[in-house]
Parts: sequence; structure tokens; C-alpha cells
Amino acid sequence: MQVDGCYDEAMNYRHAFHAGNFADVFKHAVLLGLLDSLKAKPTPFCYIDTHSGAGRYDLRDEESRKTGEFVDGVQRLLVASNLPENLRPYFDLLRNANSADADGHLNLYPGSPLIASLAMREIDRIVLCEMQPAETAALKSLFAGDKRVGVHQRDGYAALPALVPPKERRGVVLIDPPFEAQEAEFRAIEKALADAYARWPGGIYSVWYPIKLRRQILPFHRWFAAHGIKKTLAAELMIDADDSPLRLNGCGMVIVNPPWQFDAWLERLMPDLARLLARTPRSSQRVEWLTRE
Ligand SMILES: C[S@@+](CC[C@H](N)C(=O)[O-])C[C@H]1O[C@@H](n2cnc3c(N)ncnc32)[C@H](O)[C@@H]1O
Repeated sequence: MQVDGCYDEAMNYRHAFHAGNFADVFKHAVLLGLLDSLKAKPTPFCYIDTHSGAGRYDLRDEESRKTGEFVDGVQRLLVASNLPENLRPYFDLLRNANSADADGHLNLYPGSPLIASLAMREIDRIVLCEMQPAETAALKSLFAGDKRVGVHQRDGYAALPALVPPKERRGVVLIDPPFEAQEAEFRAIEKALADAYARWPGGIYSVWYPIKLRRQILPFHRWFAAHGIKKTLAAELMIDADDSPLRLNGCGMVIVNPPWQFDAWLERLMPDLARLLARTPRSSQRVEWLTRE
């Protein structure tokens, strides 16, 4: 494991409060699908996580218990009588991350870095950026001894253009910010994406975003066409209607340069997720191309 950087800034967001919620289930099932697609070829690839978090979360900790968000997220999969086949790889990986002492429960919820490390091969490489010292320390400890993993305590937006293209020339980037800056976060994502895409137009870029009101998302969706980014797919999971600014009603992922037939894969996955994770009958899902060649 390599470590560099010394960025330190006061931030409030701690992913421990949200680990394993419906948004994590959706994001991580999609991430796993992307990584699995890349493994279809024998050549190595690189996974770059611009906003890594702590890498792993204990669902018995005070933060998790305080919000209980995992109960309407990953816990719903645990108690589902008939888990859909396309969620099986994600579910098996969760079990894997928990080891034998979990006693049938999920005590530990893997974040995106651990999911990637469990899914990826010895020949592949993982680059993690995280700004908070405590989260970075957790990542360092989690991946101590894993030579595939590099941990950087730095601003993932600023780091991304310098990290691409990776030497493998194949890979996937996950941009998963805390959205503390609300709509301004979209502008930061667009800037980082524009810089990275100019250097590596063939890379797979995936971006997670929250949905409260639909109108807050539209400028971001339109940006891809306006910026000349080809092949952009969006998948959205609404657990409620997108008409209240007061709560997280759903979330989406935009994927630039998705792997071949990933749209069809998402179209099979999303109805199952919407059915399992719905908060109200107004739940919905969609998969759409924002730009196409
Ligand atoms: C939503 S969490 C990440 C969760 C993680 N990707 C997962 O799926 O398990 C966002 C993380 O980004 C970190 N962060 C916030 N701004 C950042 C920045 N500019 N660069 C790198 N990390 C940042 C926060 O400290 C937080 O840990």
C-alpha cells in the first residue's frame, strides 16, 4: 500500500451514518456490475475512487444504529424471501466481507474500496482518494499489505485528471461525493469530469448523485450533451416521488462509456431494486441514454 498527501479540511460528512442504505445498495450493485464487465478481458485494469470514505463500516456502531438507514437498505435484501439472481454476486460479496463470525447477520458493510478489492484480481490496481484524516487512516489500516491498493489523502476532484489515463489504459472511475455543497457539487463534478475526459476519453466514469427534486438534476444531465461527451447512460432509483426537497427520494448514477450491453444489464437489475427498496408505492426506476454516439 502507498500513501501520500496531507490535505486536511473541516468536513461534517461521515458515511458511517448512511452505510448500507438504499443508495449504497444501488451504487455498489452497479459498481460490482462494472467491475465484473471489466474482468471479462484478461488484461489488467485500474479502479479509481475519488471519494473513498472509510472502506468498511460496522453496522453495530453508534453512527449506524443512530440512523438505522441500513434497515431499509441492505437489511431488506437479507430478509427477502426470493433474492433475484442478478443481485446474487453483490449479496455473496457482502457475505464474504463478513466472514464466519457474523452468524448469519451482516455486521460489516463494505464500502466501495472494499467491494472493489474483493471483486478485483491480483493483476488489477486500486487508487483511493479521501480527504478526511480519520477516513484515510481507516483505509490505510484496512489495506495495509495489499500491494494493489494506493491510498491518497487528497482532494479527489483535483487528483483525478492527474490519475488518468492509468497505465493499464482500462478502468473505471467512481465519483461519489457527499453533496454537502448541494447543487454546487454538480459543478465540481462537471469540472473534474471535463478535465479527466480530455485526458482519457475512453475511460469509464461513474458518478453517483442524490435526487430530491427532479429540476435539480436536469442541468447536470444536459451537461453531457453540451460538453460533447458521447455514450452516457443514466440509471435512477426512486424510493419515493421526486417532489420534496426535504428528504432523499432517490438517487442516480451516470455512467460514461458503459461496457457493452450494460444498459440491458441495468434494465434487468433496476426493477428488482425498486421493488425491494421502495419506501412508498410512488417508487420507480429508469434507465436512459443521455448521449449516444
Ligand atoms: C459518500 S462518501 C463515500 C462513500 C464511498 N464511495 C462508498 O461507496 O463506500 C464521500 C466521502 O468523500 C469524502 N470527501 C469529501 N470531499 C472530498 C474531496 N474533495 N476529495 C476526496 N474525498 C472527499 C468524505 O470525507 C467522505 O468520506
